[in-house]
Amino acid sequence: MTSKLNGGLESEDGHQQVQMHPPPPSRNKPIRLKNHSAVIESYDSLYRTANPESGCGSQVCRASIWHLTDPRLSYPTPRELLPEDEEALLTSAKEFLEHYYSSIKRLDTESHRARWESVRRDVHLTGTYDLTETELTFGAKLAWRNSARCIGRIQWAKLQVFDARHVTTAQGMFEALCNHIKYGTNKGNIRSAATVFCQRKPGQGDYRIWNAQLISYAGYRNMEDGTVIGDPATVEFTEVCQKLGWVGAGTRFDLLPLVIQASNRLYPEVFTLPPELVMEVPLHHPTYDWFAELGLRWYALPAVSSMAFDCGGLQFTAVPFNGWYMTTEIATRDLGDTHRYNQLEIVAKRMGLDTRTHSSLWKDRAVIEINAAVLYSYQKMNVTIVDHHTASESFMKHMETEFRLRGGCPAEWVWIVPPTSGSLTPVFHQEMVCYSLKPSFEYQEVAWKNFQWDEEDTNTGSALGLLAAGRSAGGRRVKYRFKEVARAVKFTSNLFGKALQRRIKAAILYATETGKSEKYAHMLAELFNHAFNAQVMCMADYDVINLEHEALVMIVTSTFGNGDPPENGEAFAREVRGMANNHHSHHPIATQPKYQLGSSKTGTPLLNRVLNRDQHSLRSFSFDQLQQPSVDSLGPLSNVRFAVFALGSSAYPNFCGFGLYIDDLLGSLGGERLASVICGDELSGQEQTFKSWAQQVFHTACETFCLEDDVNIDDVSATLRRDLITSDTVRFAVVNSQEKPILDIVAGLSQTHAKNVTECPVVFNVTLAKDIDGRKTVHVGLKITSQWINGTRNSATSAVTYEPGDHIGVFAVNHQPLVTGLIDRLGINSTLPPDGPLQLQTLAEQKDGGKTWQNQERLPACSFRTLLSHYLDITTPASQTLLALLAAHASSEEDKRRLQLLATDASEYEDWKHWGFPHLLETLLEFPSVAIDAALLVSQLPLLQPRFYSISSSPLIDPLQIDITAAVIAFKTQGGEGPMHYGVCSSYLSQANEGDKIQCFFRSAPNFHLPTEIERPVVMVGPGTGVAPFRGFWQHKQALQSKGKEMGPMLLFTGYRSPDCDLFVEEKSTMVASGILDYAFLALSRHPPVRKTYVQDKLLEAAPLVYRMLTQQMGHFYVCGDCAMAEDVASTLRMVFQKAGSLNAEESDDFLMQLRNERRYQEDIFGITYRAPETVIANRRQQ
Ligand SMILES: Cc1cc2nc3c(=O)[nH]c(=O)nc-3n(C[C@H](O)[C@H](O)[C@H](O)COP(=O)(O)OP(=O)(O)OC[C@H]3O[C@@H](n4cnc5c(N)ncnc54)[C@H](O)[C@@H]3O)c2cc1C
Ligand SMILES: Cc1cc2nc3c(=O)[nH]c(=O)nc-3n(C[C@H](O)[C@H](O)[C@H](O)COP(=O)(O)O)c2cc1C
Repeated sequence: MTSKLNGGLESEDGHQQVQMHPPPPSRNKPIRLKNHSAVIESYDSLYRTANPESGCGSQVCRASIWHLTDPRLSYPTPRELLPEDEEALLTSAKEFLEHYYSSIKRLDTESHRARWESVRRDVHLTGTYDLTETELTFGAKLAWRNSARCIGRIQWAKLQVFDARHVTTAQGMFEALCNHIKYGTNKGNIRSAATVFCQRKPGQGDYRIWNAQLISYAGYRNMEDGTVIGDPATVEFTEVCQKLGWVGAGTRFDLLPLVIQASNRLYPEVFTLPPELVMEVPLHHPTYDWFAELGLRWYALPAVSSMAFDCGGLQFTAVPFNGWYMTTEIATRDLGDTHRYNQLEIVAKRMGLDTRTHSSLWKDRAVIEINAAVLYSYQKMNVTIVDHHTASESFMKHMETEFRLRGGCPAEWVWIVPPTSGSLTPVFHQEMVCYSLKPSFEYQEVAWKNFQWDEEDTNTGSALGLLAAGRSAGGRRVKYRFKEVARAVKFTSNLFGKALQRRIKAAILYATETGKSEKYAHMLAELFNHAFNAQVMCMADYDVINLEHEALVMIVTSTFGNGDPPENGEAFAREVRGMANNHHSHHPIATQPKYQLGSSKTGTPLLNRVLNRDQHSLRSFSFDQLQQPSVDSLGPLSNVRFAVFALGSSAYPNFCGFGLYIDDLLGSLGGERLASVICGDELSGQEQTFKSWAQQVFHTACETFCLEDDVNIDDVSATLRRDLITSDTVRFAVVNSQEKPILDIVAGLSQTHAKNVTECPVVFNVTLAKDIDGRKTVHVGLKITSQWINGTRNSATSAVTYEPGDHIGVFAVNHQPLVTGLIDRLGINSTLPPDGPLQLQTLAEQKDGGKTWQNQERLPACSFRTLLSHYLDITTPASQTLLALLAAHASSEEDKRRLQLLATDASEYEDWKHWGFPHLLETLLEFPSVAIDAALLVSQLPLLQPRFYSISSSPLIDPLQIDITAAVIAFKTQGGEGPMHYGVCSSYLSQANEGDKIQCFFRSAPNFHLPTEIERPVVMVGPGTGVAPFRGFWQHKQALQSKGKEMGPMLLFTGYRSPDCDLFVEEKSTMVASGILDYAFLALSRHPPVRKTYVQDKLLEAAPLVYRMLTQQMGHFYVCGDCAMAEDVASTLRMVFQKAGSLNAEESDDFLMQLRNERRYQEDIFGITYRAPETVIANRRQQ
């Protein structure tokens, strides 16, 4: 980025500028630009948006004038903001905001209008306003993109912006600058960065860095003969530093100190750069050994520090930024210029060239060898550098992209063409047009030029003599002694990292159905908060437009359905996918895919829900076109480091499908992986996998941001193992219900789960079937109250409360003997009233260091019994973290040892979990010596999650009734030899009596609705309780038919073990008899002597019919139930296509894909069928 800031002025052959600066054309016409070598033309229309004052006039060309200083950036700071300034500021702010909001595609939206209003208000009240962090990052990148003199702009989107606007002292600025240098240098692998300090404010002094570059060499003038040791370019500034008390060693390559002025200080402060921070490259030549004897060296990081950043009418007067070097800047200019290190003659002589005559071309030959030496030495030390040919080529690509994306590219030919071998580079032959766009980086007066020195100082002689003494803020003279300066530096060098620590935001995004991802996200935040500013957000609450401006993004997400996102991750997935589509349409580049969508074993595509709501089909969005952007098409996330932890269960065919998908998507958008995506298997050590992933990612993130020296990563990682909450920091407070109203269950659940919970009385509860093993299925009817209607999307007058295919979420109540058992085991009765209202509280640290007890918002105030009955999950086997906590509270050595083993050994843990499936009471009884405080235990228990049921009725039959068809889970653990366990919700529902009130909520399932074109055929496959939603479907058809509306044909495929398990037998017969169901196929799998048949077999038998319905009549195909079954059905459907339609394997895949994309193949997945513990354990051992 800095590459041309101090180079490129030489244009000795003279002819170039004349032809490259034609008189400005009429402002409406695009400017035609020729490429004289490729003989192609392009048209710049972007210039129309430029400031008309900028650039050259028809009579005058100013292209070779170095510092066209913006008069608004005069020094000192204007004390007051004049009314016309306020108007100008608002005009610029408005323009910038329009630019920003149109870039995020939110122009003229509510958020744009609100933002503009707040800016206007702030400007009127305070004379200025603040950019948001995202606006600032956007503006800084754009300023680089708009820098007409910079040849390295292809990287403009990859700028790391450090927001240091909160820093108010020179000391703080110094620390931030040290971090900038450390980050940018990155051990030689240079990264572009900008650090933005506070903007100019009315009535306040400016923040300034007096150095032209953060790293530069001193120049000492010999007063007698006028010669200079060091860099002649810095002689004046070196004198400034000396007068401020700095003493250089007097060599040719002394690093200058940083001279920093904070707004609240009248005088600047001096800080010596810690040498270990500055990377330098001693220069050698690949073939001339004598070159090393010249003792030349240069620094790795070119960081311009004197320019201002002009954005939205605001001026940021201290905004150091860096890119990496182009060879000619060092070799040709810094070392070659006669008014700089002037090495050409020395080198030419060592080369044995005749320096007395131009015709020997000694200058040209020497400069090439210096270039060769610089390139060689930087590459040898692995320091990023680019030669001028490569840089020119990449600039041509950049120009091309810019013309395509925004209709032009401001470029100052004189600066862009490299100072060596100009016409050998393609940029030489390209016409360019120069104009000024905002935001921009602007030159400003050197800070000491018009600095208002103390009068006393003025009398002492030269302007620089005035700096012999410093001034404290109060005007008291402070003589800087170098010793003090050095001490300050030593002190601050220990603080490396502190300046950035906690300031780099780490966005942790989660999506979850049952709460684990959220829990892990919070654990990750605890870890990251030791070095970063970690913020946890649910994907549903995250605005995707911020994504490209994040520095660090960690994703923790599970997978649901059949490879789908959890509900609260759907919108995020869609929007990121939209971003990828958009990027892809602008950057068509082809590379190989890494992650095949549709990678499940049967090749079923993932992300049905996301895709089905999307315009683009999976196939049309091909990953091969999005992988790893090359340098000419940096993706929008090229500046984002990310890592994904995917939760899932290997019992599912699309294991961790959503996490893998998101990882691939972010990578394809140019994001940089901090670590490979990791899958945490629910069936095998998920928590431990998470913890080791979290440590690895934390470590890499610290390394990436150069914080590894400042954070003891091992100590910090230990926090993952430590209990953050102890019995001293958590308690139950007895609540006086007179003082604080206690929420009822509906309000409490609504608050805890952020759901619109309501209560529906049971109107009937019948057993539909019971098989020989005692497994039963119940049919429960619930009455929708008016509360439901008001609480959800419909008014009381509307008849439609839901659609067939939608879900109801049910909040169960834990089995009461279990609750009572726990109350007894924990000894609550003796310490707390189990039936009086309590509030869980934690001891939280205040900003002032004090501590106070705060209510834990996760749980409402209620009795301990209510907590255990309604809010907490007391049946899922304890997590390893919880077992570790129990180990810490076990008094017997035996209990402690066993618990510790379970907490740390993933294999032991999984065996224990799957064999006994122990609920909390059983665990506490298994380890009798554990004596744990009830409040501490409760704080660690997960929430009792609602269970979903596919609604088994149609609102057209009765808009105020919802039917549930639930299989009741009851099983004996330990391979059938252990105690009886009951599924929490299904057994709760099975025992519900008429009139009992069930807390529940409604969830729309738009991807499982009946076709809107009602005449289309419907094929329904639902073995077992998978028939549940289909009852709603046939009821719907029946109701429509009774109103004279004709729905298309309906086929039903169900399957059971034996006829006694068959559900809705009579109703189905009636439906068949009345023609509502055209066919009802029944598969029986355990009913000898009938041959073992599954729904898949029946589907194959009916292949011609099914195929005809799907092809000729645009039918819709629905599958409901177990995930593995759905995968098998998808495979069978392909066979149907092959059998009945004579399609080959690939055509069958394509047709199924087409059905999905057209939302004519739809799934409603319940989960997986339970597998016996011995199978699970054996499977895991095999893996
Ligand atoms: C979108 C959706 C729709 C659904 N629709 C329906 C529906 O219409 N009808 C329906 O019945 N269900 C449906 N379900 C499933 C339902 O949500 C519950 O998962 C189910 O009722 C079990 O919940 P539970 O609370 O009774 O069992 P839980 O307390 O959650 O216990 C279930 C757990 O018990 C364990 N387990 C089960 N059997 C055994 C065994 N033999 N040995 C050892 N451990 C075992 C398993 O680990 C299993 O995960 C649906 C699920 C989803 C996601
Ligand atoms: C109905 C249902 C469907 C699921 N589908 C998948 C799946 O397709 N792939 C997968 O890897 N895991 C699947 N899972 C497992 C979950 O991803 C796993 O339980 C995860 O740990 C849940 O994390 P969460 O609490 O953050 O949602 C499914 C679980 C359920 C209950």
